[in-house]
Amino acid sequence: MKDGFHRPVLEEQAVQYLIVHPEGIYVDCTVGGGGHSLAILQSTTPRAFLVGLDADPEAIEHAGQVLAAYPNKLLRQIFYDQLELVLYESGRYPVSGVLYDLGISSHQIDETRRGFSFQGDGPLDMRFDPRQQQGAAEILNGYDRKELERVIREYGEERHWRAIARDIVARRQLQPFHNARDLSEVVRQVVGERFLNKSLARVWQALRIEVNQELARLTRSLEAAFAMLEQGGRMVVISYHSLEDRIVKNFMREKSRDCICPPELPACMCDKVSELKILTRKPLQPDAAEVRRNSRSRSARLRAAEKIVPYQGGKA
Ligand SMILES: C[S@@+](CC[C@H](N)C(=O)[O-])C[C@H]1O[C@@H](n2cnc3c(N)ncnc32)[C@H](O)[C@@H]1O
Repeated sequence: MKDGFHRPVLEEQAVQYLIVHPEGIYVDCTVGGGGHSLAILQSTTPRAFLVGLDADPEAIEHAGQVLAAYPNKLLRQIFYDQLELVLYESGRYPVSGVLYDLGISSHQIDETRRGFSFQGDGPLDMRFDPRQQQGAAEILNGYDRKELERVIREYGEERHWRAIARDIVARRQLQPFHNARDLSEVVRQVVGERFLNKSLARVWQALRIEVNQELARLTRSLEAAFAMLEQGGRMVVISYHSLEDRIVKNFMREKSRDCICPPELPACMCDKVSELKILTRKPLQPDAAEVRRNSRSRSARLRAAEKIVPYQGGKA
């Protein structure tokens, strides 16, 4: 790890797929510790330009230091579904590549005060952007039982969703949720010791997705990124769990399909054309050496695709 903030995953592969043009404009939607951004700047010329986004101000501040030697960049604290706004404001479009390295950085997990870890006794927070009102505690103390069930079932894929939601509601009638231990105790009571860590990881993932509206933002952002790409430009996405990977896979598949008419129609009526070429038939995974060096890379899946239709934005 360069400085302990975060070790980039599948770095070489991401840059290889992303960079089509040494003087292009590239967007790193999840700057984090700046590892991938640095690799992009090192693999391009000073005439290239990097736009780096992150919802977390600590990431933007840190990346500013890591990338200090490069004037050809713009870093902005913003959710990545707002990327069009940043590109239009800065006049940096259309772009040659957009990278996503989803999820959380090691810094976010390791900083107990951010509440991303179920270990220890941090606050129930998990907001990427601390300006946002609602953290995990507000959800646990405020959502009704049905909403809690939905979050834990859909975003955690936790099989004890019903009992966990029920016990959250029962416990908060006695005392509101404040910190990680309050919640891990409830989960422990329901699932027992044997698979406790797996269930805790799933419940924490569910809350994190809900707090940051991760799946809705990803869906919106992929569309926006595609729209801002030039013809021949690339999208590279590294995901860490099946829910986000499914969104990426379906997005790329849908954009890469031509005619979607039912087979019984004698001729095409839909006029749909393929807009994206998938470059990774199967997602790339880190090799054993990378997983040994960095255990947090073990669930990573990289998908890449190339835009094969012209940029059509109104402001070009
Ligand atoms: C895995 S880390 C990225 C690490 C980075 N590639 C590096 O090399 O250091 C993911 C980052 O994405 C940010 N993030 C997650 N969802 C986001 C969103 N919807 N909008 C903007 N940033 C987001 C997180 O704050 C976190 O810093």
